[in-house]
Amino acid sequence: MNLGERIAAVEAEIAATVAADARAVEGFRVGMLGRNGKVTLLLDELRHVPKEEKREWGQRLNQLKQAASARLEELKGALASTATAQGPEGDATRPALTGHAGSLHPISMVRQRITDVFARIGYTVSQGPEVEDDRHNFGALNFPADHPARDMQDTFFVEGGGGELALRTHTSSVQVRVMENSQPPIRTISPGRVYRNEAISARAHCMFHQVEGLYVDRGVSFAELKGTLEHFVRSMFGPDMKIRLRPSYFPFTEPSAEVDMSCTICAGKGCPVCKGSGWVEIMGCGMVDPAVLTNCGIDPEVYSGFAFGMGVERIAQLLYRVPDLRLYWENDVRFLDQFTDGAFRA
Ligand code: DAH
Repeated sequence: MNLGERIAAVEAEIAATVAADARAVEGFRVGMLGRNGKVTLLLDELRHVPKEEKREWGQRLNQLKQAASARLEELKGALASTATAQGPEGDATRPALTGHAGSLHPISMVRQRITDVFARIGYTVSQGPEVEDDRHNFGALNFPADHPARDMQDTFFVEGGGGELALRTHTSSVQVRVMENSQPPIRTISPGRVYRNEAISARAHCMFHQVEGLYVDRGVSFAELKGTLEHFVRSMFGPDMKIRLRPSYFPFTEPSAEVDMSCTICAGKGCPVCKGSGWVEIMGCGMVDPAVLTNCGIDPEVYSGFAFGMGVERIAQLLYRVPDLRLYWENDVRFLDQFTDGAFRA
C-alpha cells in the first residue's frame, strides 16, 4: 500500500471507531496518537517523501491527526453523557441530569383549589360545551331576546349557527344543562373557559375562566348562600376574611348580589387595589329566579336554590397579586415557573 492508501485506511478506521468504556477510549488514543500509534507512525514517514511533495503530504497527514484528535474528544464526550445517564454505574460524583420539570398552570391550580373547597362540602363538578346555543347561554337564564342585560356580555357569535350559536359568555349555561337533566337535590360547581368580545388589556381578556355554583333543594335560603360563600372565602384566603353582599342585578337570580371580600393586599385597611375601601369584589350571586327553575323543568313551588359565579383569574390575582392579566396567557416560562404546587398550597 502506498502512503495515500495507508492514510485512507487509517482515516476509515478512525471514523468507524466506537468505544463502550474508558478503557476503549484510551486504547484508541494510544493506538492512533501514542508513540507507536498509527497516526504518529504515518507522520514519521513524512521524512522519506521527496522534498517537492512534502507540503502536500504534510497537509494530508495533519488533517489525519486532527481527525484522530476530534474523534477522541467525541468518544470522551459520548462516554461522559452515558456515565451521567447511567448514574452510579458511571461516575457517581457527576451532578445528576436535571430536566425541566413542568408544573400546572397557575389558573389550573387555582381552579383545582376552588373545586377542592366545594368538593369537601358535597358539590359535584359539571361541565358543558364552550360553543353554546342561545337557550342555554341566555334564554333559559331569563335574558329575553332583546333585553339590555345581554349587553353586559359582548358575545362572539359562531358563523353558521344562524345567530343561535355563540362562545359561551359565562358558565351559568351549565346550570341550565344540569337542571334540565336532573332533579334536586343538586349541588354542583361548573368550572370552565368563557369568552367575551373585550379589548385585551391588563384588566380584561377575551377569554377567561369562571366557576359557577348551583345549589337547589327544598327550602334553600339566602342565609345558606351567605354561609357557603363565607366558608369558601375563608378556606381560600384565611380564617380572618370577611365578606359583604351588595344588592345587584342578574336576570337569572332574584334577589341578586355582588360579593366583596376583605382586601387581601391591605387586610381591609384601604389601599390602591381596593381603592381605599378595604373591600374587593369577587363574584356575583343570588337566589335562582323561579322563572329559571321553571324553564329547566324544576317546580319552584317545591324547590328553591342559590347560584354564584366567580372569575378564576380574579381569585388568582388576589392570591398571587399578579398585576396584569395578560401574563397568564403569554406562556412565558419565567412567569409560569414561579407557580409550583408546593409554593402555594399551604
Ligand atoms: N354569570 C355571571 C357573569 O358572568 C356571574 C354570576 C352572577 C353567576 C350571579 C351566578 C350568579 O350564578 O348567581 O357575570
